[in-house]
This record gives sequence, C-alpha cells and structure tokens, in this order.
Amino acid sequence: MKVLVTGSCGFIGTNVCLFHLKRGDEVVGIDNLSRRGTEFNLQVLKNYSKFRFYKVDIRDLKAINKIFKLHQNFSIIYHLAAQVAVTLSVENPIEDFEVNILGTLNLLEATRRYQPKAFFIFASTNKVYGGMEHIQIKLKDDKYFAVKYPNGIDENFNLDFHSPYGCSKGAADQYVRDYARIYGLNTVVFRQSCIYGPYQFGIEDQGWVAYFCIQALLDKPITIYGDGRQVRDVLYIDDLIEAYWLAYKKRKKVLGEIFNIGGGKENIVGILEFIKYLEEKLGKKILYKFAPWRPGDQKYFVSDNTKLKKLLSWQPKISFEEGVEKLLLWIKQNKCLIDRVIK
Ligand SMILES: NC(=O)c1ccc[n+]([C@@H]2O[C@H](COP(=O)([O-])OP(=O)(O)OC[C@H]3O[C@@H](n4cnc5c(N)ncnc54)[C@H](O)[C@@H]3O)[C@@H](O)[C@H]2O)c1
Repeated sequence: MKVLVTGSCGFIGTNVCLFHLKRGDEVVGIDNLSRRGTEFNLQVLKNYSKFRFYKVDIRDLKAINKIFKLHQNFSIIYHLAAQVAVTLSVENPIEDFEVNILGTLNLLEATRRYQPKAFFIFASTNKVYGGMEHIQIKLKDDKYFAVKYPNGIDENFNLDFHSPYGCSKGAADQYVRDYARIYGLNTVVFRQSCIYGPYQFGIEDQGWVAYFCIQALLDKPITIYGDGRQVRDVLYIDDLIEAYWLAYKKRKKVLGEIFNIGGGKENIVGILEFIKYLEEKLGKKILYKFAPWRPGDQKYFVSDNTKLKKLLSWQPKISFEEGVEKLLLWIKQNKCLIDRVIK
C-alpha cells in the first residue's frame, strides 16, 4: 500500500513513516522541516528506499495538488503537520491560523479532488476542550484530580477553544469531521493527549515528557508552566500508531468519528511527580523553574478511552514506566546529536 504523511519528519510523523516502511509500504512524506530535529529524522527515513520526500509547506495548495496528482491511490493520508506550540500561537496567531486551518483545508480539498477514497486521519488535540475551568478540581498528594471524572473526559465534553492554537486545531478538527458529512470523505479525528517516544525533540512548550527527559539527561534546567500539580495521561507512540492502524483496518466502523485518545486513567502522571520519578530513576537532582500558566492549560486532563475500546478494541499496552525507559534509551543512544540539535 501507499500512504501519505504530512509532518513526516516530526515526532509522530517519523514514527508513523517507520511503521509503514518496516511493513514494506510506500511512504510519501511532506514536511517544511520547520521543527527542530526534523533534519535528523529525515536522514533516518531516507535509509528506506520506499520513502519519497517533498520539502513542501502545507499552506501551498499548488504544491500539494501536484503531489496528489503525481501519486495515485493513497490508502491512508495521515495529516499530522501543524504549528504545535500554544505560546507561538499567541505570538503569531496569523501564522498559526494559516498552518493549522488553511493547511488542513488544503489537504482536505486535495483529497476531495484527487483521492476521495483515501482514509484520512487527523491528529487533533485535547486542547479543543479548553481550560475546563468549570469542573470541580481538588488537590491530593500534590496533584490535581477532577472529582466528577474518575474515568477521564470523553468525546461529549463541551468544546471550548482556548488560545489561538486551541482555536486553529479545533476548527481543523471540525472541518475534518464535516468533510465526512458534506463530501463523504473517509475521515477520522483523534483528539490526542500527551504522546511521547523516540524521535521527539520536545521543547518547553510541546512534548513535555521528552523535553523533561532530554533536559535531565543533558543536565539542563526545566521550565514548568503553572504550579506543576497538573495531571496528564501519557501515551507511548506505538500505542497511538496501533490505534491509527486499527481505525484503518476497521474503517467502516469509524468514518466521520471523533475519538479521545491518551494513556487513560492507568497512565496518569503529575508534572512535579514526573520530575521526582526521573530524579530517582537517574539518581540525580534536576534543576527546574516555574513560569506562568499558559492560556487554556488544563489542571487535569485524562482521556476516557471507552469509545475506542468499544469500537476498535483498543487500549494502551505500554505502561508509563516501560515507555519512559524506551524514550530514555533513545536519548542516551543519540545524546551527542540531540545536544547539537537543541542548542
Ligand atoms: N505530540 C503530542 O503530544 C500531540 C498531542 C496532541 C496533538 N498532537 C498533534 O499531532 C501532530 C503531530 O505532532 P508532533 O508531536 O509530531 O509535532 P512535531 O512538531 O514533531 O511535528 C509536526 C511536523 O509538522 C511540520 N510542519 C509544521 N508546519 C508545517 C507546514 N506549514 N508545512 C509542512 N510541514 C509543517 C514540522 O516541521 C514537524 O515536522 C500535530 O498535528 C499536533 O498538533 C500532538
């Protein structure tokens, strides 16, 4: 089969490409290489003869159309390219709008025009639910928890786009869903919690699990936004890719659907708790400082994965401890290079 991956050299994109390349599939990748670390990931992907790469910006509809005309019959289109940082979206909301909304619309239009049968996967975010300020939050063991949501947040929770990033991803999420209704495209939306794993060059503002691990291993300080008592459910990349793959295999069941996806209540971790965990695991003190809360930051987000379990029989397989071990190993093996990339 042949698949298209936008954002192919980013964290999730690289892992998705590798999954297909290792299966022997043809992979067409699109990326503008704007994210740090993407050049490194590109070199890894170039080791595979079935990988074809286009350095293209998803805002450029002409270039996108050209690729779609050239390559017929994508079985799956993974739309992962995005402006991913909340703080950058506040600094430059127009660019954020253009990449996340116009870029997504370009991909949907090219799909509608040239490859309407392709299965279209969109990586959305739990940020579409906003800061969730109205839910009752309590503090226990220096971590927040949501009193009425012991199983997490499901897809019926009110949308409340907050921050330009929340707005642009939320609008794109709704466009992708609506293209299934209005044009009959085969789309599915995944509202992802924190995903982590190898090939993730985490930064202060995005990809915090990898950011913490990289900073800790390289003896650099960590910035924590807010008070560090926030709680997240973290999901290892292989589990996310398994959900994407199951969605494709059982596509008739999921067309036009939206899924929350994360580590769920079994893989919950607080920000400060994670630092303590790393300190014990690595046997060293980690330097950290606090910065103000970012707009729309949730005190608690845990994904209720029930819908995914019901429709796709999916659930996370890789525990938090196991996943962090794999991530640390990747960082250790590529320490010199990562050190150069993040300078
Ligand atoms: N990693 C997570 O925890 C997480 C959580 C929720 C949602 N998501 C979503 O998943 C997707 C992938 O995230 P990621 O963590 O791999 O981020 P990433 O930054 O590693 O990957 C995004 C890729 O898109 C590319 N890109 C950015 N702007 C582009 C443009 N205009 N044209 C072409 N390419 C462009 C970047 O160079 C990068 O390679 C994003 O849509 C993100 O919003 C990620």
